[in-house]
Amino acid sequence: MQTQNDRSTEAREATTMRAVRQLAYGSTDVLEVATIERPTIADDEVLIEVEAAGLDRGVWHLMTGRPYLMRIMGFGLTRPKNPVPGMDVAGRVVAIGADVSRFAVGDEVFGIGGGTYAEFAAAKESKLVHKPDAVTFEQAAASTISGITALQALTGRGRLEPGQHVLVIGASGGVGSFAVQLAKALGATVTGVASTSKLDAVRTLGADHVIDYTRQHIDDDDRRYDLIIDTGGRNPLARLRRALAPTGTLVIVGGEGGDRLTGGIGRQLRAALLSPFVKQRLSFFMSSESLDSIEALAEHLSRGSVAAAVGRRFTLEEVPLAIDAMEAGTLTAKSVITLKG
Ligand SMILES: NC(=O)c1ccc[n+]([C@@H]2O[C@H](COP(=O)([O-])OP(=O)(O)OC[C@H]3O[C@@H](n4cnc5c(N)ncnc54)[C@H](OP(=O)(O)O)[C@@H]3O)[C@@H](O)[C@H]2O)c1
Repeated sequence: MQTQNDRSTEAREATTMRAVRQLAYGSTDVLEVATIERPTIADDEVLIEVEAAGLDRGVWHLMTGRPYLMRIMGFGLTRPKNPVPGMDVAGRVVAIGADVSRFAVGDEVFGIGGGTYAEFAAAKESKLVHKPDAVTFEQAAASTISGITALQALTGRGRLEPGQHVLVIGASGGVGSFAVQLAKALGATVTGVASTSKLDAVRTLGADHVIDYTRQHIDDDDRRYDLIIDTGGRNPLARLRRALAPTGTLVIVGGEGGDRLTGGIGRQLRAALLSPFVKQRLSFFMSSESLDSIEALAEHLSRGSVAAAVGRRFTLEEVPLAIDAMEAGTLTAKSVITLKG
C-alpha cells in the first residue's frame, strides 16, 4: 500500500503539475485546468510549491487582454505570454537558481511570481520575501500586489503625513482595503467609499467615516480631504477636485469600466496635464514591484498594523467562478486561490 511519504516523494519527483491555462485572450471560457510541465527557473529565480495565490483586477486584464493598450505594451499581442494566470503567490521554496542567495529550499515565502494559479510557480528572488510566522499563506498570497500599490500611493505619490484626512474611493476592494488600514496605521483620519452592503466591512478595516456611493457623491458634504486615493468608480475629475482641499493631493490608482482600447486613461492624463496649473496636486501612478515596498509591507504584516482581509477562497477548478464574481462586484476585499486542503 502506498504511504503518505511515498506520495510526497512522487509529487516532488514528478515533472508535471496541475495548472489553470489559457491559450487565448477572452472571457473565463478560455480557462481550463490542465496537466502541464512544471516551470524551469532562471539563475535569479526560485521555484515555489504554491500554497495560495491571490486574485486581483490585474488577472482579469491579463485574461481578457483589455485594455488593448497593454497588448502592445508587451503582454502578448494575440494571447498572454504566460499561459498560466496569477501573480500574487505564497508557498514553499523547492528549488533555487544558481545566483539566489536570500532563500533556501524549504523557506516559506510570498511575493510576486508568474503563472501562480498552479501547483508550482517561478518567481524572481527580487520579488519575494520570507513569510512572517504570524501571517497565514492565504493572507500572504492576498497581500503583495494590492498592499504595495496602496503603500506606494499613500506614502510615495500621496506623501501622506500623520493627522491628514484621507478619502479612499474603493475602500471595500483589494487595493482600497489595504489603503484604509495603512492610512490608519500611518496616523490619518480615513473616510472609505463603498457600496451599501460593504460599508460594515470598511468600518471593520478601521475607517472613521464611510460614504455609500450608491446614495451620496463624495463632495455632497462639507468634508474636504488632504489626500484622495481613487481606486474605484469613475468620478469625474471636477468632482474629485471639489472634494479635495485647496492644496490637497489626488492619486488616481485605477477604476474599471473605461473604453476597450485605453481603459479610459483619459481621466488620468487630464489630471496630470492640469496639475502644473493649479494648487492641488493631481496625479496617477503605476505601482512598481520593488523589493523595498514588498519588505515594507511584510514589516506591516509582521507587526499586525495591516492584515489581508481574506474574503472568499476558491480552488483551481473554481478560478473562472472567482474571476466572474470579481467582475460582478460580489467579492469583498481580497479573495484567494488555495492549492492545499
Ligand atoms: N496603478 C496601479 O499600479 C494599479 C495597481 C493595482 C490595481 N490597479 C487598479 O486599481 C483598481 C482597483 O483594483 P482592486 O484590485 O482594488 O479592485 P477591486 O478589488 O475590484 O475593487 C474595486 C473597488 O471599486 C469600488 N467601486 C466600484 N464601482 C464604484 C463606483 N461607481 N464608485 C465608487 N467605487 C466603486 C468597489 O466598491 P464595491 O465593491 O463596494 O462596489 C471596490 O471597492 C483597478 O482598476 C485596478 O486595475 C492599479
